[in-house]
Amino acid sequence: MRLDLTDLTCKIGSVKFKNPVFTASGTFSYGNDLPEFVDISMLGAIITKSITYELRVGNPPPRIVETPSGMLNSIGLANIGVNNFIKDIIPLYKNIDTKIIVNIAGSTNDEYIKVLKDIESVSSDIVGYEINISCPNVEHGGMELGVDAKLSNKLITELRKQTEKLLIVKLTPNVTDISKIAEAVEEAGADAISAINTVIGMGIDIVKRKPTIYKTYAGLSGPAIKPIALAMVHKISKTVSIPIIGIGGIVNGENVVEFLLAGASAIQIGTANFRNPNVGEIIVDELNQYLKENEILHYSELIGKLNLYE
Ligand SMILES: Cc1cc2nc3c(=O)[nH]c(=O)nc-3n(C[C@H](O)[C@H](O)[C@H](O)COP(=O)(O)O)c2cc1C
Repeated sequence: MRLDLTDLTCKIGSVKFKNPVFTASGTFSYGNDLPEFVDISMLGAIITKSITYELRVGNPPPRIVETPSGMLNSIGLANIGVNNFIKDIIPLYKNIDTKIIVNIAGSTNDEYIKVLKDIESVSSDIVGYEINISCPNVEHGGMELGVDAKLSNKLITELRKQTEKLLIVKLTPNVTDISKIAEAVEEAGADAISAINTVIGMGIDIVKRKPTIYKTYAGLSGPAIKPIALAMVHKISKTVSIPIIGIGGIVNGENVVEFLLAGASAIQIGTANFRNPNVGEIIVDELNQYLKENEILHYSELIGKLNLYE
């Protein structure tokens, strides 16, 4: 028997998504500026580029370089700042046929709070926030918070008081024990956890005898980090009961199944968008196909269903 009907609907907190395939922050602009052939209505959600309080030009070039099975980036949170985001981008979401989650970054707790409060103060179709406490490419904020359970807990506790919308916290893999940070943000009231942000890396040009990236260290992404991401998602899933959104090196439907088995309830596609901005639609089709072939009605039947060795 082959199933003709499969169900990809996905619920995180109280928000229902068409499917569990989202695009990752920094790899899909603000959901605007996309080529015409990209059908965003096929996506479960778009996570915006990180928004900070002030506009940021980011780090000097070179800030992106290809690596075997991935890329290094040190963009440094270049973005238009919250005021321009509210003025120029939020109105565009009125007619958008997918859910929008705004990624927020900051160098102090106050900055995160100000950005979130400013966005909350205008009426919008945004369904929630992803709090980036995991950026490896800035000197203050970002990863400084994400490696410290107490600081993460304090920030998320404060942000939780400011919004009833979905509050997702994005974690860094550059820690000794990611479970501790996951527990701390769950305790603070996060609705979900996204994992992972990029892994710290470096490239060297032996002709110039220089690092390949201006800032020397950068964030590694793409298929090269998938095994790290799977391990992190699996560890987190053993620790917390809130949903996990798996990120790291996903390029096809089979990769999504791997993340679901590891314990993710949804996934995000990052680097793969640079090769084909329409990869999300293809991945949704591939996931559907997998469910049909394996006679699985709802994709959630796969979540955490990993058969471990004894
Ligand atoms: C060029 C680039 C820019 C990124 N910018 C952001 C960002 O602004 N905020 C954020 O939380 N993550 C950012 N990320 C991290 C991605 O959202 C994602 O967590 C990471 O790349 C791993 O997924 P992937 O292997 O599918 O790319 C960026 C990644 C890349 C490659």
